[in-house]
Amino acid sequence: MTIEIRIMAFVSTAAWMPRVVFVASLVAALAMASGPAAAAARGGRRVIHLRFYMHDITGGPGQTAVQVVKGPGPAHPVMPGSHFGDTTVMDDALTEGASAASRPVGRAQGTYTLASLREPALWVSMTVVLTGGAYNGSTIAVVGRDDISASVRELAVVGGTGAFRGATGHVLWRTARMESRDHVVLELDVYATVPGASPPPRAGAVRQGGLNLD
Ligand SMILES: *[C@@H]1O[C@H](CO)[C@@H](O)[C@H](O)[C@H]1NC(C)=O
Repeated sequence: MTIEIRIMAFVSTAAWMPRVVFVASLVAALAMASGPAAAAARGGRRVIHLRFYMHDITGGPGQTAVQVVKGPGPAHPVMPGSHFGDTTVMDDALTEGASAASRPVGRAQGTYTLASLREPALWVSMTVVLTGGAYNGSTIAVVGRDDISASVRELAVVGGTGAFRGATGHVLWRTARMESRDHVVLELDVYATVPGASPPPRAGAVRQGGLNLD
C-alpha cells in the first residue's frame, strides 16, 4: 500500500516557517503513531513550499555580489553596459520579508552568467543555504535560466541536503523591487518535492529560531 503524502503549505510572507514546520511535524507525529502507516509515510513524498526574498547587491555599502568575469565580446544588444559572458559570484542575503531588515533565513551562494547573445537572460547556479528556523543547516541546489524581462521566471530545484536530500522541483522567481540601482530584491517561491525518507526539520532548530508552534 502506498500513501502519497503531500504537504502544500501556502503561506503568508510573514509566517512561512511556522506553518511548514507545523504540518511537517504533524506528519511525523502521525507516522510515529501508526505502525503500518509509518512505513507508507516514509515511502511517500512531501512537497515543501518556502517563500523568501533575496537581496542581490552589486555595489556600494553591503555589497554581496561581485563581477568576476567581464565578457570580452561585443556589448549586449539589450542590456546596456553588459557583455555576453559577464559572470558574477554572489553570497546574497535571504530574508523572510522583502525588507533587508526582516529576519534572515539564509544565503544564496553561487554565480550568474549573461549566457544569451540576444536576450537579457542569465544562467543561474546557486546553493540556497538555510541558516535559521526549521530547516537550519539544510541546502537546496537551484539551477536555471533567469530572463530578467519576464515577470515570472522558473528555475529548477535539482537537489539538496539535510531536509532537502534528493529534492526535485522548481522555483518561481520574481523581481520584487529595486531598493537602489545596485540592490535588487527578488521574491523566490521554492516548491521542493522530497522523498519521504528525508530527515524532518529538527525540533531543536525550531526552538533556537524562536518559532512558536502553539
Ligand atoms: C543554526 O544552526 C547552527 C549550527 O547548528 C547554530 O549554531 C545556529 O544557532 C542555528 N541558528 C538558528 C537561527 O537556529
